Amino acid sequence: MIKFEHVSVQYKNADGRYALNDVSMEIKDGEFVFLTGPSGAGKSTIMKLLLREETPKTGTILVDDYDLNSLKTRKIPFYRRNLGIVFQDYKLFEKSTVYENVAFAMRAVGAPSKIIRKRVEGILDILDIKDKYNKFPHQLSGGERQRVAVARAVVNNPSIIIADEATSNLDIKLRNEIMQILTGFNNSGKTVIVITHDLSIVEKFNKRVITLNKGELVSDTKNGGVANE
Ligand SMILES: Nc1ncnc2c1ncn2[C@@H]1O[C@H](COP(=O)(O)OP(=O)(O)OP(=O)(O)O)[C@@H](O)[C@H]1O
Ligand SMILES: [Mg+2]
Repeated sequence: MIKFEHVSVQYKNADGRYALNDVSMEIKDGEFVFLTGPSGAGKSTIMKLLLREETPKTGTILVDDYDLNSLKTRKIPFYRRNLGIVFQDYKLFEKSTVYENVAFAMRAVGAPSKIIRKRVEGILDILDIKDKYNKFPHQLSGGERQRVAVARAVVNNPSIIIADEATSNLDIKLRNEIMQILTGFNNSGKTVIVITHDLSIVEKFNKRVITLNKGELVSDTKNGGVANE
């Protein structure tokens, strides 16, 4: 469960402007949600809050049993294991192979090497890039790079997957492919949040849509398309 209660965010040096203004929402376990809105609406800020890279100026954020305001710094790495993030620019390590890029995420949480090997091979297989395990990112196509980013996000079996504009640079075929992969994870019970400003993809899938504009939650299809007060 993800719960935002009256969350406001003001970045330093933001001239008093709020990146998020009194946002409240609840996303239940196993939901698939599009988070949309124009550039600067506050979408990535929500991701940064969930990652606990930022903290709100006011308001409360609950994720499962964690209250992110009172989460101790030393517990942040443990908390983050619940999250799988696909970044817009993928953030792949250019000097590491596909295998190493994905295995890294498991080493970072101290998984034993035998388990890492099995799991990384399994996930590369599911995402249909197993034959590229020895290649470096610059030797891959855009769609393949993206699948490596997805593999890395999900390899530790997180309960929440967040894709921030992960489909934005892709052509329609690849976009549908990644959406299918994310839908598949959702079908296996994971919470999936897809952040995008691309309304064509939102319209294509009949899912809950939360829309932000200038830091405000302006509609949530769960509530009949109107902002929740
Ligand atoms: N580190 C920061 N410092 C100051 N202001 C910031 C910072 N990060 C974001 N902002 C501002 O906060 C607002 C929300 O930004 P955010 O990145 O959440 O938007 P977004 O909806 O993800 O936009 P985009 O679609 O362009 O990715 C914007 O006005 C942005 O300029
Ligand atoms: Mg963004």
